[in-house]
Amino acid sequence: MGLNKKTVRDIDVKGKRVLVRCDFNVPLDGSTITDDRRITGALPTIEYLVDEGAIVILASHLGRPKGVTPEFTLQPVATRLTELLGKQVPLLPDCIGGDVKNLIDLAEPGDVLLLENVRFHPEEEKNDPEFAARLAALAEIYVNDAFGTAHRAHASTEGVAHILPGVAGFLIQKEIEYLGQAVEDPRKPFIAIMGGSKVKDKIALIDNLLPKVDRLLVGGGMVFTFLKAQGFEIGKSLLDESSLEYAGRLLAEHPDKIALPVDIVVSETLSPDAKTTVVTVDKIPAGTIGADIGPASQALFSEIIKSSGTALWNGPMGVFEMLPFESGTRAVAQALADSDCLSIVGGGDSAAAVEKFGLAERMSHVSTGGGASLEFLEGRELPGIAALQDKG
Ligand code: 3PG
Repeated sequence: MGLNKKTVRDIDVKGKRVLVRCDFNVPLDGSTITDDRRITGALPTIEYLVDEGAIVILASHLGRPKGVTPEFTLQPVATRLTELLGKQVPLLPDCIGGDVKNLIDLAEPGDVLLLENVRFHPEEEKNDPEFAARLAALAEIYVNDAFGTAHRAHASTEGVAHILPGVAGFLIQKEIEYLGQAVEDPRKPFIAIMGGSKVKDKIALIDNLLPKVDRLLVGGGMVFTFLKAQGFEIGKSLLDESSLEYAGRLLAEHPDKIALPVDIVVSETLSPDAKTTVVTVDKIPAGTIGADIGPASQALFSEIIKSSGTALWNGPMGVFEMLPFESGTRAVAQALADSDCLSIVGGGDSAAAVEKFGLAERMSHVSTGGGASLEFLEGRELPGIAALQDKG
């Protein structure tokens, strides 16, 4: 399934002012960007517009500020863009208003400017039509390339598209191609690897994917709810009580599809220097917490991954941020890297994990969306994409 929307290639941008919504909501340590994939992901669209002689006006949010908050300035992004593009990308003092408009009027074709954080205005998240009109007044064409924010119907992601002609950028196009192919036309066998803490956050995802997949591999904190539903003792491991019945029903209805771990890494504490033991799933000691899948499960999952045609991964296998509990997540990432399958990482924590293990380049696709890729894979319409012009 490709994107059913017009892209930047379908519209004449030469000499025009083009407002490009990106998702530059990047992780920061002070003013240092710790993962710039969302910035590098937007470069193909920006570079195309520069080459076509457009005046490129970039917009994004950063964090969840309440009003104007200096720590949420987009200055670190302007600096990084300047380095990556090899040309000065000035940060404008705001995202609307006369001063901003005057600065844009001075720009030449091929220039790239960055507006300040759109969430400094509460009207952004309210999708306020007047605010959307003030953003729209800066440009003649709207491009949405903010895949990571496409699940939000905000003024700069949705509202503007009702005022200016709106088309998609190349990052959105690529995301929909990969994620869409996985859910609509996967090379078989198609497997999903799912982790994360709570079953209830993944119910919509499981319900949408289960009829399509050949196997569903379950790891992470949510595994213990499944083990409990099978009647095993899970010690002090995470239990999502409200989803126990659901987990039990899934196991009863799809015994051959669902693959659960056979062993677990347990510990009395969750800390970076925790002492760990490996136990089979039927022998989790009282008083311990399960925090990763064990070596036999890693081997089992790796085998299934290696013989798959398409593998979609959403959610880590354990508390991978801590060394004693990272090996299950690392093993899955490594198996995906070594497999010939189409490997698609559904964003968020699993994307952070492949990045941490230095394996991102070896995946077919690592999504830049967390919540957005989850909602897409749940089969929901993303408002930021729906509002763009249809193809044909
Ligand atoms: C994200 O990081 O998921 C997006 O940038 C959206 O951010 P939000 O959850 O604050 O809307």
